[in-house]
Amino acid sequence: MSEGQAPGKVILLGEHAVVHGGWALALPWPAVEAVATATAAVGATQVVSEAGDYDVRGLTAAARAVRAEGCVVALRSSVPVGAGLGSSAATALAVVRAVAAFNGQACDELGCADVAERFAHGTPSGLDAATVAAAGPILFRRGDGARPVAGGALPALVVADTGRPRNAAEAVAAVAERLDRHRTLVDALGQAALPGAAALEAQDWDGLGQLMDEAQDRLATLGVSHPDLDRLVAVARAAGALGAKLTGAGRGGCVVALAPDAATARALASTLLDAGATRAWTMDGPV
Ligand code: MEV
Repeated sequence: MSEGQAPGKVILLGEHAVVHGGWALALPWPAVEAVATATAAVGATQVVSEAGDYDVRGLTAAARAVRAEGCVVALRSSVPVGAGLGSSAATALAVVRAVAAFNGQACDELGCADVAERFAHGTPSGLDAATVAAAGPILFRRGDGARPVAGGALPALVVADTGRPRNAAEAVAAVAERLDRHRTLVDALGQAALPGAAALEAQDWDGLGQLMDEAQDRLATLGVSHPDLDRLVAVARAAGALGAKLTGAGRGGCVVALAPDAATARALASTLLDAGATRAWTMDGPV
């Protein structure tokens, strides 16, 4: 029996822009994770879901890209589905890692996980898979791949779920349709990831928070926010967040808020739950 794991992810800056050649700044979110267990079985390799609403067709294709036969992979995950925290990338990478460990051989993890990502998202930028595979924050651009962002302490982040499921592919398609009209806005979203990475390296949390607030305004103008996201963003800001925005494709799913310190992050998470968030996490886990 062999196990594979992968965390969720949080995009701080650059979602949507990264689909159109821009930069994004993101980090793995270990408060939620996918865990896959591979055991020997007769016949074609397949994935079975132990809990959660996973589309096992793409995951099975990814598992078969690593090993075509002789394996069954049981999957469980605390990464919420359809919430912007990288559930499909985390489950794909956990499955691929479990099968590679079962084989006793390394494989092209991202290449194999991409098989499932394409199944789930059509033509993903690759950001989600690169982020859940990373050891820490990354700057990412399609074609360039992931660059680790150096720095000491990670920011004190809070993630809260509106409970409103969203369809990432629909949100990505809506932005693509508006690209001609909104090219400057989309470019600005991607450009913000560069000073965002510098702020993260310098632990300039005020600067990073301001960039997150500006990104939220741009994402709202692009049409990928939602009144439930706007409300949680406003609650977080009023309760002391240095910046807050939607994270992921938007139109539902989660917000991410930056707190000045870990204690404020925990307090913010409780405030967001009181304000109607269905779930909230700090970097350490659920609140
Ligand atoms: C989804 O987590 C992030 C998007 O930028 C889509 C992508 O990068 O493929 C909206």
